[in-house]
Amino acid sequence: MKKFYVIGDPIDHSLSPLLHRFFLERFNIAGEYQAKKVPVDELSSAIDFFIQNNTSGINITTPLKEKIVALTDELTPEAEIIGSVNTIKFFDGKIIGHNTDAIGFQQSLLKSGYVLKDKQAIIFGAGGAARAIAVGLIRAQCQKISIINRNFDKAIALANWVTNRFPKAHVEALRNEVHIVEAALQNCHLIVNTTIVGMGSLADRSVLPSAELLHDNMLVYDLIYRPYRTTLIRQAEEKNIVWQNGIDMLICQGFESLKFWIDRELTLDHTLYVELRNMLRREVCRE
Ligand SMILES: NC(=O)c1ccc[n+]([C@@H]2O[C@H](COP(=O)([O-])OP(=O)(O)OC[C@H]3O[C@@H](n4cnc5c(N)ncnc54)[C@H](OP(=O)(O)O)[C@@H]3O)[C@@H](O)[C@H]2O)c1
Repeated sequence: MKKFYVIGDPIDHSLSPLLHRFFLERFNIAGEYQAKKVPVDELSSAIDFFIQNNTSGINITTPLKEKIVALTDELTPEAEIIGSVNTIKFFDGKIIGHNTDAIGFQQSLLKSGYVLKDKQAIIFGAGGAARAIAVGLIRAQCQKISIINRNFDKAIALANWVTNRFPKAHVEALRNEVHIVEAALQNCHLIVNTTIVGMGSLADRSVLPSAELLHDNMLVYDLIYRPYRTTLIRQAEEKNIVWQNGIDMLICQGFESLKFWIDRELTLDHTLYVELRNMLRREVCRE
């Protein structure tokens, strides 16, 4: 019986147990999956507990994704590139850190038939998720990426970080000012919200000052999945613009974690994907 966990703080809101229990059942994997609250200062002792407890793998969420790096023995090339870890595997006496956020994001767009090649994208936010999204966009040959963040220095730092790793990528940091955002949106095909604007106490806010800034031939992607429709997504709906929320990425990054843990070829076919999406949507909308 394999044991898996998701850890973070807070963790009560996590949909990962529901998602992974579904995977375990459907792929006939003998295992259990639980959520455990782990504050930052207890991470090291928690990892000792998981080792004693014969744990197979753990999903790592906010605020532990960077801190966990120092506790790993090895990083996969993907975790190395992104510089943070959202999945660890206990294997051969070692802790191996991996990151499935970038590939999960790419897969979620592939599943909806969206092609990133030669597109221009705006990323709102400059935190850990933004870094993974930038890597995913570059790998999928996005033509240009503009980074807009409340804290402009962090947007610059992320743009520099990306340029250092991918010198050929066309990346810029823009100030979060209405006329600048408006101009950037004119030629943009995809906007991705990686900030927490739209959830919790910021639920009534959007990274866009107005739905009028959106135009046809655009995809609006919000990494948030709670609420199911953020203010940004409702702005997109108002203008009949195609949108995706964070549920698709959650499913795809979780599936990549599972494959990493069990080291077996698995296929997430369309029927299973739709069933899973509907289940998670019901769960989120029930609240
Ligand atoms: N769907 C999925 O599978 C998935 C996967 C990963 C992450 N996520 C989601 O992505 C989001 C970000 O995660 P993260 O790890 O990148 O967090 P993070 O590193 O803490 O970054 C948070 C971002 O939000 C911005 N922000 C915070 N408060 C703000 C405010 N009041 N006004 C404007 N901007 C504000 C920050 O801007 P400053 O730099 O100015 O502080 C920063 O850009 C979370 O909602 C997380 O749940 C979803």
